Amino acid sequence: MRVAIIGQGYVGLTISIGAAGAGHSVVGFDLNSRLVAELNNGTSHIEGISNSLLTSFISSGLFSASTQPSVLEGSDVIVIAVPTPLDNDRNPDLSYVHAAAELIKENVRSPALIINESTSYPGTLRNEIAARITNVEHFFASSPERVDPGNTQWGTKNTPRLIAGLTADSLLKAHTFYGSFCDNIIEVSSPEVAEAAKIFENTFRQVNIALVNEFAQIAHALGISGREVLDAAATKPYGFMSFSPGPGVGGHCIPVDPNYLAHVANEVGVPATFIKRANEVNLAMPAYVVKRVVAGAGGSIKGKKVVVVGVSYKSNVADTRETPAAAVIDLLRQQGASVTWHDDLVGTWRGVASSPISGADIAVVVTKHDGLDVAATQACGYVFDCTGSIANVDGI
Ligand SMILES: NC(=O)c1ccc[n+]([C@@H]2O[C@H](COP(=O)([O-])OP(=O)(O)OC[C@H]3O[C@@H](n4cnc5c(N)ncnc54)[C@H](O)[C@@H]3O)[C@@H](O)[C@H]2O)c1
Repeated sequence: MRVAIIGQGYVGLTISIGAAGAGHSVVGFDLNSRLVAELNNGTSHIEGISNSLLTSFISSGLFSASTQPSVLEGSDVIVIAVPTPLDNDRNPDLSYVHAAAELIKENVRSPALIINESTSYPGTLRNEIAARITNVEHFFASSPERVDPGNTQWGTKNTPRLIAGLTADSLLKAHTFYGSFCDNIIEVSSPEVAEAAKIFENTFRQVNIALVNEFAQIAHALGISGREVLDAAATKPYGFMSFSPGPGVGGHCIPVDPNYLAHVANEVGVPATFIKRANEVNLAMPAYVVKRVVAGAGGSIKGKKVVVVGVSYKSNVADTRETPAAAVIDLLRQQGASVTWHDDLVGTWRGVASSPISGADIAVVVTKHDGLDVAATQACGYVFDCTGSIANVDGI
């Protein structure tokens, strides 16, 4: 099949390589000309895709990247994988999805299967995409992406894939496409079900993370180890699922997607109270971390050198979107500390390069990558670990 993927970020590039691996002829379309040039040079910007794999598909002619909208014409399949962020009021911002729909409308004259993989609320495929591309009789399907960057166990091939079509023909075509590179395809009855499943999955994580974040604070106040309690609870073989406390939630999904559900819930008159409360608890975690650091360091961190270790939102990835490290750093500075950060994977962030760990009075570990120099971290006078993975130090 000729496949065009609109958006070559985490999701778009991952799916491009999955489809190229099945022998489809894939063009990755992106507005970012620097990214497109890098991809065509064989340089991948995401952890799960190596330069050598990318280069092999470029060499075999199965993958190329482009900024030219004309490449979309003649595609059998067009996948939309563009950002779905929040606007300034933390409401859904569908402007990228609308732009992608407009792009298809303007440039594609022959019928194609148009699939939305971007995460959004139920009704997006039908009302925000298909309703905008009425000039050609296309087929429309929804397959919300579940990629977990950095996860080496679950990838495009073995993660069960939800699909739904606007019509039976669309569903059949989507099944044929995904069946060529995914092991387990699950058909659901409507695009709205598929879209809602994806945002519920992430809401489930957001709410449970908030629950353990609140519990960690209760346990600390009770003078017991919250993590030991959670480990003990996790020995129950049924009816319990483990989540870990931390400094908050980050990334493109968990802090964002539940607000899409809250938005539609509000429109149909049902208050999404769990989402609201989970947001409050998770967003307050950086303040809790800094309060604990101040207390643990003797009551004041004024004038102290503090290094924040690990600024990406989770271990072993370089993604700093929505990272709680930003709020932790800002709040430490408000307490009068002199704050630097260290993260070998991130390298440069907010216009500043990663600093060494050594020489700091206090280390606050927000994210722990596998390659972290734990000994250098432990050598700081006081260590506060938000990850629960460094022995014999204070933390959540
Ligand atoms: N990152 C994840 O782990 C993850 C997991 C599952 C689902 N998702 C969802 O997938 C979607 C994409 O997320 P992502 O992480 O890949 O985003 P990203 O920011 O990494 O990449 C998006 C890409 O789309 C490009 N783009 C924006 N508008 C465009 C347009 N009109 N035409 C062409 N390209 C355009 C951008 O330049 C960028 O390269 C979002 O809805 C997200 O919620 C993300």
